[in-house]
Amino acid sequence: MGKRTLVTSALPYANGPIHLGHLAGAYLPADFYVRYKRMRSEDVIFICGSDEHGVPITIAADKEGINPQEIVDRFHELNKKTFEEFGISFDYFGRTSSPEHHKTSQDFFKVLNDKGVFKKKAETQLYDVKAGMFLPDRYVKGTCPHCSYAEAFGDQCEKCGTSLSPSDLIEPRSMVTGEKPIYRETEQWFLPLGDFQEKLQTWLDTTENWKPNVVGQVKSWLTLGLGDRAVTRDLTWGVPVPLENTEGKVLYVWFDAPIGYISATKEWAQLKGDPDLWQKYWRDEESDLIHFIGKDNIVFHCIMFPVVLMSYGGYVLPKNVPANEFLNLEGHKLSTSRGWAVWLHEYLEEFEPDLLRYVLGTGLPETKDADFSWKYFQDHVNGELADILGNFVYRTISFTHRYYDGKVPAASDFTDQDRKVLGEITRLKNEVESCYEKFLFREAIQKSMSLARAGNKYFTEMEPWHLRKSDVSRCGTVLNTCCQITAALSILFDPITPDACKKLRSYLHIEKAGWQDINEQTLAPGHSVEKGEILFVKLDDEVIEAQRNKLEEQSRQQEEVTQQPDPIKNTITFEDFNKLDLRVGEILSAEPIPKSDKLIKVTVDIGVEKRTIMAGIAKHINPKELSGKKVTVVANLKPRKMMGIPSEGMILMAETPDGQLKFLSADAVNGSVIT
Ligand code: 2FM
Ligand code: ZN
Repeated sequence: MGKRTLVTSALPYANGPIHLGHLAGAYLPADFYVRYKRMRSEDVIFICGSDEHGVPITIAADKEGINPQEIVDRFHELNKKTFEEFGISFDYFGRTSSPEHHKTSQDFFKVLNDKGVFKKKAETQLYDVKAGMFLPDRYVKGTCPHCSYAEAFGDQCEKCGTSLSPSDLIEPRSMVTGEKPIYRETEQWFLPLGDFQEKLQTWLDTTENWKPNVVGQVKSWLTLGLGDRAVTRDLTWGVPVPLENTEGKVLYVWFDAPIGYISATKEWAQLKGDPDLWQKYWRDEESDLIHFIGKDNIVFHCIMFPVVLMSYGGYVLPKNVPANEFLNLEGHKLSTSRGWAVWLHEYLEEFEPDLLRYVLGTGLPETKDADFSWKYFQDHVNGELADILGNFVYRTISFTHRYYDGKVPAASDFTDQDRKVLGEITRLKNEVESCYEKFLFREAIQKSMSLARAGNKYFTEMEPWHLRKSDVSRCGTVLNTCCQITAALSILFDPITPDACKKLRSYLHIEKAGWQDINEQTLAPGHSVEKGEILFVKLDDEVIEAQRNKLEEQSRQQEEVTQQPDPIKNTITFEDFNKLDLRVGEILSAEPIPKSDKLIKVTVDIGVEKRTIMAGIAKHINPKELSGKKVTVVANLKPRKMMGIPSEGMILMAETPDGQLKFLSADAVNGSVIT
């Protein structure tokens, strides 16, 4: 462990509000970690900010017909405020449109350019003649060459997750005009990642305790071999390329955004009145740099940004990148465009931050995708926060207040049971600590709740309400024990439910608390205790039902907006159509492809012969259910290898608005021609 820690959370794009998926990926776990470290009085800073460049911003602005500046101003303010209200305790929340950021990212570009790190290459790229612009990244949509999804973006297919270049798309179309783009030559600067393969490997070999999901992804990138990655774009929105004669070119958002962590730290240092302070966190080997991100950002934080830092020189490299997987919602993939999301600012209009911090924390997608549902929320609030933690501390403090005049009673003659439950304080504190150090937040929360559970059980078994009459001295010892556990809980839970813990500590008159105060004798006999209030109120079924209905309604309304059928494609002639050979087929067998979570190998009888077709439907359809299904096959499509297997045709599918895939089947003998 280094002397100090710099924690960052992925800079959210300022093109929309924060939702639960964002929170579970990069923000909540980081906040747990930082609060834990602060409780231990460690030197830690927590840096984030708005990512205000890139195509996601300009597309959002184009949709509303407004200037990108208006979009980023709106969402920067909203997201900053929402994070604050939710208790995400950034030391600084910057923005990449700031002059400091422009200066810092341009300096990085210039230094790397002067060092000869970049390759300058002319490439043909997609160009929209009508709009008069190049179409980088998400400005172009088309069919994914891997899974045939027709709505794949130029930088990524959201269906199969493959990272793409616009030129990979089959039948590309411009997101600006809907037109078919042409190819036009343009010059860009490239970061030759392949040149750094060895250096990256050497650095990665020194890292410890990385999560298997992160290591796995990075290894697979390195095994596949790294290519050149363009770090400039032909766009007007972004940080201008700081070289002569480069008008109309800006830095690629994934070049400038991670540098945003550095510029935000500089701005933080300036505000502190010590402008050089940022260097201590970024340029001293004794600093641990930890990036909290979602899994879609792994390549940028574990390969691209480290290469930029190495090339510049003098910067620390990430110590760990504890990336999380994705959060689903009520059993479905979270989708902002389909309205299937819970927005954090809307959540905060109705509920306390602590409830979601706790519940989302118990179900973080740490090692695999996880699901959040309102029922899960209710069950954990009612069954754990209210029934266990809240109940135990309320029983303890209200009993102390009522029967001991609000003073912690003296303890005498501890029994084995007393000692055992008191011993749980230290035992669980140590275990929770080790979980935090390993980024295992779900387990840290579970173990924290185990202390409340042990306290609650002890209270029930000791029956102090009887002891009060039968054995006053014993009753005092029991209550003293419960007060010690309550005090420990008020600190142990602080990273998770900070508001409730602050309140609880005010009832317990604990003015200053640190992690070291989680011990068996925190409160001396005679220490005053307020009556206090119930910390967590149970949630009724109606409240939960209302949230579910709201989600359904929001998604229905969004569907009405987005269900506008896709625009009709360009006119073709009958001869064009007639080139297609569509046949009725029947699936004979289907088997999954072990290394692919998308593809299924299907054998289809198309009357004249049997064909092997690779279909990208594994996420939607169980191969066991396919045999005997009638389908429509494009029989004269040029064969193409997928995962090394030649695919001899294509099975036509209809995609429903909620993303399900259905076969087009005809009640006709195999081989019948569809005309
Ligand atoms: O995926 C995203 O939302 C990006 N805006 C994350 C950027 S992280 C960092 F590099 F700035
Ligand atoms: Zn795909």
